[in-house]
Amino acid sequence: MTINLSEQKKDELKEERIVTPEPIEGEASEERVFEGLRPKTLDDFIGQRKIKDNLRVFIDAARIRKEPLDHVLLSGPPGLGKTTLAHIIAREMGANIRITSGPAIERPGDLAAILTNLKEGDVIFIDEIHRLSHVVEEILYSAMEDFEIDIIIGKGPSARSIRLELPRFTLIGATTRSGLLTSPLRDRFGISMRFEFYEPEELKTIIDRSSKILGMDLTDHAALEIASRSRGTPRIANRLLRRVRDFSHVEHQETVDRDIARKSLDKLDVDALGLDNMDRRILKTIIKDYSGGPVGAETLAVSVSEETETIEDVYEPYLIQIGFINRTPRGRVTTPAAKEHMQKMGLI
Ligand SMILES: Nc1ncnc2c1ncn2[C@@H]1O[C@H](COP(=O)(O)OP(=O)(O)OP(=O)(O)O)[C@@H](O)[C@H]1O
Ligand SMILES: [Mg+2]
Repeated sequence: MTINLSEQKKDELKEERIVTPEPIEGEASEERVFEGLRPKTLDDFIGQRKIKDNLRVFIDAARIRKEPLDHVLLSGPPGLGKTTLAHIIAREMGANIRITSGPAIERPGDLAAILTNLKEGDVIFIDEIHRLSHVVEEILYSAMEDFEIDIIIGKGPSARSIRLELPRFTLIGATTRSGLLTSPLRDRFGISMRFEFYEPEELKTIIDRSSKILGMDLTDHAALEIASRSRGTPRIANRLLRRVRDFSHVEHQETVDRDIARKSLDKLDVDALGLDNMDRRILKTIIKDYSGGPVGAETLAVSVSEETETIEDVYEPYLIQIGFINRTPRGRVTTPAAKEHMQKMGLI
C-alpha cells in the first residue's frame, strides 16, 4: 500500500481547508443531515455526460438480458460523485447495495463473509479499492471472474481448501488513485469510468438544485459566484452553499444575491477561482522567489514550509487543472495565467 500522505496529515488538512475536496470535520454527518442533496436517479445526476450516457445503455442492456451489470470501476478525484453514482446504479438496477471499503476488509475471511451473504444481482460497493491488501485482492479475482472463491478451513496438516460458489453479483469499485490499482484487478472490471471536474455551469445547476432543497432563495448570479469558486467539485459547491447560507441567516438576508455570496466567500478566504491562502502562497513563491520556475517540488515545499507529498497530492492537482502550474522535468513552472491572476489580486 503506497499512500503518500499520512492519514493524520490528511485529517489536519480536512480541518483547515474550506476548499478541500475531502469531507471536512463533522461533514460526513452533515452530509447525512442533508442527505436529500444526493441525487437518487441517473436523471437527477448532473454533469458527467459521457459516463451517464454509457451507463444508461449498459444498465438497460443488462436489464433486458435480466443479468447483473458487469463490474464497474469509478475513478477520479474526491468529491465528484463516485459514491453517489454507485448508489444510483444499484437503484436503477433494482438491486440491494452492500457498502464497504478497501481498508475495512482486513482479512480474506472478512471478504468471504461479505461475498457469501450476497444474493443474486446484489451490488457490492468497495470504496478506496486501491487500499485492499494483497491477500484480499487475490480472493477477489476468482470471485469477480468465475463467481467462486476458495477458502481454507482449519489449520496445520488438517487444513483443506473448499470451493464456494457465489451468486452473480456486481462489484462497483471506487478509487481516487487509479494508478495504484494492480492491472489484474483493473482488468476484471468490464466497465471503467473516469470522472472529470465539473464545469461552472454544471456546478451552478447542482447549486440551484441544492438551494431549492435547502429552502433558500438564491439568485442566478449568486449561484454562479459560488459555482466558479468550487474548484470543479460538487462536494465543495454544496459546502460553500451551506456556509453562504449561514452568513445570510446571521445577516437576516432573505434573498441570497451575488453581493452576500461574494462577501461570505471572501470572508472564508476563497478567492474568485476557489484558491485559498496556501494556493496563493505557492504561486507567489514560484513567481517571486524563483522567477516563475522551474523549481523542484522539494525546494518549493521547504520554501512554503509544507511536506512535498502534501504539495503534490493536495495543492498541485487543482493548480495544474486550471493551467496555473506546469510540471516539467526540471520542476514546477507557473504560467502567464497564474501571474495575471496574482497581479489582479494585488499579490505580486
Ligand atoms: N452529479 C452530481 N449532482 C449533484 N450532486 C452531486 C453530484 N455529484 C456529487 N454530488 C454531491 O457531492 C457530494 C459528494 O459526492 P460523493 O460523496 O458521491 O463523492 P465521491 O466521489 O464519492 O467522493 P470521495 O472520493 O471523497 O468518496 C454528495 O453529497 C452529493 O450531494
Ligand atoms: Mg465516496
